[in-house]
Amino acid sequence: MTFDFETHPERRRTDSQKWQKYAGKDILPLWVADMDFVSPPAVIEALHRRIDHGIFGYARPVASQIEAVVEMLATRHGWVIDPSWLVWLPGLVVGLNVTALACSGPGDEILCLTPVYPPFMTAPRNAGRVPVPVPLVLDRAGRRWEIDWDALEKAVTPRTKAFFLCNPHNPVSRVFTRQELERIAEFCLRHRLALCSDEIHCDLILDPALRHIPTGSLGKEILEQTLTLIAPSKTYNVPGLGCALAVIPNPALRARFVQATAGIVAEVNILGYVACEAAFRHGEPWRQALLARLRANRDHLLAYVSQELPGVEIEAPIEATYLAWMNVKALGLPDPIGHFEAHGVGLSEGRFFGARAGEYVRLNFGCPLSTLDEALRRMKHALPPG
Ligand SMILES: Cc1ncc(COP(=O)(O)O)c(C=O)c1O
Repeated sequence: MTFDFETHPERRRTDSQKWQKYAGKDILPLWVADMDFVSPPAVIEALHRRIDHGIFGYARPVASQIEAVVEMLATRHGWVIDPSWLVWLPGLVVGLNVTALACSGPGDEILCLTPVYPPFMTAPRNAGRVPVPVPLVLDRAGRRWEIDWDALEKAVTPRTKAFFLCNPHNPVSRVFTRQELERIAEFCLRHRLALCSDEIHCDLILDPALRHIPTGSLGKEILEQTLTLIAPSKTYNVPGLGCALAVIPNPALRARFVQATAGIVAEVNILGYVACEAAFRHGEPWRQALLARLRANRDHLLAYVSQELPGVEIEAPIEATYLAWMNVKALGLPDPIGHFEAHGVGLSEGRFFGARAGEYVRLNFGCPLSTLDEALRRMKHALPPG
């Protein structure tokens, strides 16, 4: 079966957040993490069937939807869970915010590894907690972003209550190894920290030599203090359907989490449940084709950046996700985002991820190759004379 990753319906003048940002301007949006690809046919067909039913009342997940999640985790990731561990959510960022409330008290501290997806820092703040960023360090020789274990130990105080992990990591695209994850688990156990593991990008591993290891699969002990967050949204391009899950094995922790959602977290959209089941059950051929497209885009991006964009550097391999973390410091631009927008390309601001001003931008390559290529050409024209 072939799928079209080369063309897509017009997204300008639609509800797309990604494209609306630059309405009326000739700026290619390669910022927010949604892809310019039509979702798997199986997802669209399932949604049509649900729409044709015609009644859209309050929903609860049905057995087959729950089964689809349980089976996907077992078959794809080797993680056998009990269905009772699942808490459905209207979004994964909701899960980060609820975790902050459920696992700590006012003024408590929550660790994360930076640069990181901004809600890792805003969720604790929203809850009146204190995010404590521990910078990843770039091992230039090993070409890898590494955890600074000494810094992590030093960051712990009596007020530290949780560790927010992003695996695979957005934006540096690392897939953490078993050794690293075991060390994180040991660290969290020793300091009695809840381990919140955002695994939203786990089905977007681009390096065939790597495997996603669910944090919850590391052992019984760490399972008791782990909250894993997953969703079909990134992989199958359905973030607008608002459906995510928390997997919380410990009943007391799960009860605290559910209590923290009471009255403030909306029901999951009925279409979200439908898309989730269809994606997990029937989306695999499409996902494999998507991975091939993303690998080709990534390779094109890496080659273009190294050959045609002096002063721009992707410092480590892109192991997963469709996001590239690009060092633009050598360009000496006070406002790289504004500069590239002025030349027709919309990127994400590195500062929001914890980088210093002028240092990094993030590029979303989940788009047709022609779009990516045009954006790269525009970036080349945007380079200051050097
Ligand atoms: C690591 C990570 N977590 C969560 C999200 C967003 O999840 P949701 O749209 O379900 O809130 C993203 C989106 O880019 C992400 O990269």
